[in-house]
Amino acid sequence: MAFIEIAEMKKTFHGDGEPVKALQGIDLEVAEGTFLGVMGPSGSGKSTFLSILGGLCHPSSGRIAIDGIELYSLGGERLADFRREYLGFVFQSFNLVPYLTALENVMLPLAVKKRMSTAHKRDEARQVLDRVGLGKRCGHLPSQLSGGEQERVAIARALVNRPPLILADEPTGSLDTVTATEIMQLFRGLNEEGQTLVMVTHNPENRDWFHRTVMLRDGLVSDDCRQRGKMQEEVI
Ligand SMILES: Nc1ncnc2c1ncn2[C@@H]1O[C@H](COP(=O)(O)OP(=O)(O)OP(=O)(O)O)[C@@H](O)[C@H]1O
Ligand SMILES: [Mg+2]
Repeated sequence: MAFIEIAEMKKTFHGDGEPVKALQGIDLEVAEGTFLGVMGPSGSGKSTFLSILGGLCHPSSGRIAIDGIELYSLGGERLADFRREYLGFVFQSFNLVPYLTALENVMLPLAVKKRMSTAHKRDEARQVLDRVGLGKRCGHLPSQLSGGEQERVAIARALVNRPPLILADEPTGSLDTVTATEIMQLFRGLNEEGQTLVMVTHNPENRDWFHRTVMLRDGLVSDDCRQRGKMQEEVI
């Protein structure tokens, strides 16, 4: 059994005009520990794919299982629990809360942990901020941080629950090359520690970091390529 199993995943958006067939039947199996890249032209369905994989958007049809758990047969509350336990999200727009410090932003996913003391939450958040090299920026507001630093806060927030799967949509899209490389190194480090990563990107240079790259075109997988790249060993 693969860690991620996707069969016949379809999504059609029904808005005011013509329905949009964003995904037209995706079949994919991903092994645990894979660093997977998802690429393809604008509008090919990458973000839709990631949102469905992340339990944020119901597919029109098809099945998705992560670690053997059928995502969309879980009810709303259990799906939310699953997301909290299994998934870390990093979005391009960071989605940091502007009036909270870096530390407070990272503590947010721990808010639901009623039995964890605030001091413990602070410690955990500080540790992950250290991990992403921002130990000295804990008290800064997002507006007092550079783009790359904000991105790293967003990554720290995705990591604080130690999720087995991290989903990232264009995490390096708005960063300069040096900062983008730092972020890719950070992701690779996490992957080497065992986390499975799925990253959407436009940048062809990022392919070198992935174990495997899936290309989407018109809501279908047009290419699926396994490579060694900058990784030490192949997972799949
Ligand atoms: N909520 C929505 N309602 C209607 N159509 C949508 C919605 N979200 C996405 N779409 C459409 O679905 C298609 C796929 O969109 P998606 O955002 O997944 O593409 P993408 O590959 O992530 O593109 P980009 O590289 O520009 O981010 C597009 O045609 C888009 O306009
Ligand atoms: Mg997108």
